[in-house]
Amino acid sequence: MEVFKKAIPISEAIKLSTGYVTVRGWVYRKRVLKEKVFVVLRDSTGIIQLVFPRDRFKIAEELNIESSIVVSGLLVKEPRAPGGVELHVESIDWVYIGEPYPINEDAVTADSEYLLDVRHLWLRSRKMQAVLKIRHTVFEALHHYFRKNGFYEVQAPMFITAAVEGGATLFRVDYFGRPVYLTQSSQFYLEALIYSLEKVYTIAPSFRAEPSRTRRHLTEFWHAEMEMAWASMEDAARVGEEVISYTVEKVLQERGEELKLLGRKTEALEKAKPPFYRVSYDEAIEILRKKGLNINWGDDIGADEERALTLEFDKPIILYGFPEKLKAFYHRNNPQRPEVTLSFDVLLPEGYGEVIGGGERIYDAKELIDKIIRFGLNPEDYQWYIDLRRYGSVPHSGFGLGVDRLVMWITGADHIRDVVPFPRDIRRTKP
Ligand code: 4AD
Repeated sequence: MEVFKKAIPISEAIKLSTGYVTVRGWVYRKRVLKEKVFVVLRDSTGIIQLVFPRDRFKIAEELNIESSIVVSGLLVKEPRAPGGVELHVESIDWVYIGEPYPINEDAVTADSEYLLDVRHLWLRSRKMQAVLKIRHTVFEALHHYFRKNGFYEVQAPMFITAAVEGGATLFRVDYFGRPVYLTQSSQFYLEALIYSLEKVYTIAPSFRAEPSRTRRHLTEFWHAEMEMAWASMEDAARVGEEVISYTVEKVLQERGEELKLLGRKTEALEKAKPPFYRVSYDEAIEILRKKGLNINWGDDIGADEERALTLEFDKPIILYGFPEKLKAFYHRNNPQRPEVTLSFDVLLPEGYGEVIGGGERIYDAKELIDKIIRFGLNPEDYQWYIDLRRYGSVPHSGFGLGVDRLVMWITGADHIRDVVPFPRDIRRTKP
């Protein structure tokens, strides 16, 4: 069939700029003039202007936006066309006339709820294309970084029975008549796996029954987690700053065009090189109080406080040493100062805030059981997790990185939903 005949990517056609070629894709724009129909054609690589003589190609007038088409013709240099090249169509090899398209990309002040309803179509927009390509590069870079640095990739289950990050955000699932939950984090499984492989990572979905809709919370997000045996909080923090800077660097190198299309200014990205600033929780409280915020030692550093804090610094911050009660039970308390934990968050600049949460884990069985009880939890629920401390326990540390949040910052998006192909939040499970 003609449709399967060899076509070249549009980006390649633009580079060639002369010769007889076949291209295929979807109608992005259309203008009907007296003698010609101008169509901008889009594929996954770019856009090119097609010129149809009206007398020969009656059908060109009927092409609605997003109609699909395969055409052959001659490439001609034309400075006024996007990319400086246009294709003078000689034959239409295949065409599928679409119904009138329900989105006008030029008028996308369009309310975002509508764009979420038609997300299955909106994914075709040049903006989403750029975001998805950056997302692709981010995932690639994360895998690269971990693999190049001696981490084994592992997989953990999504059905679980013990809460990692507290019961309040667990999704309950009916599992053959008994309740199980969707995982909030693969951390406990990674902790088991370090006794086999020492340095492990996984990139997988995590689920949180987040009751509120915010700019940076999803109910299903992509979580890049790592765990290392024989490692301190500072060792984990160093991996955190390295993996972020490595990923940002790769996007800057390979996705300049996409960042430009999104209008992303790159100064802050270029600056995100190790070492990131280290700021203790105590110092953060002081900085925030000096800025006039009403916050005291022991209070949570929420989204607004994080934002205020990141605006004081031109690079990501490693915020460490949180009070015990602000962090999950598994964090090891600082032996020199037991009221604080050996925990850290990485906060992204420009107001974006937390992207990583991690730290050193409790390695002593008794210390762990005591803390589980102190937190009002039942040690029986954590039997296998406690078991890990019974047979040759070692100091170990790790973290979880919210991949969608990292993409959000890199692309400069206002909302986490804008960087996920099919986002899930409290209201939305469709499309
Ligand atoms: O700080 P969190 O809750 O830490 C953990 O889950 C640890 N067990 C991870 C570990 O040490 N292995 O989550 C880690 C990161 C956050 O910093 C954030 O980037 C992201 O996961 N995250 C979310 N992203 C989007 N939507 C949500 N509802 C998120 N909850 C957490």
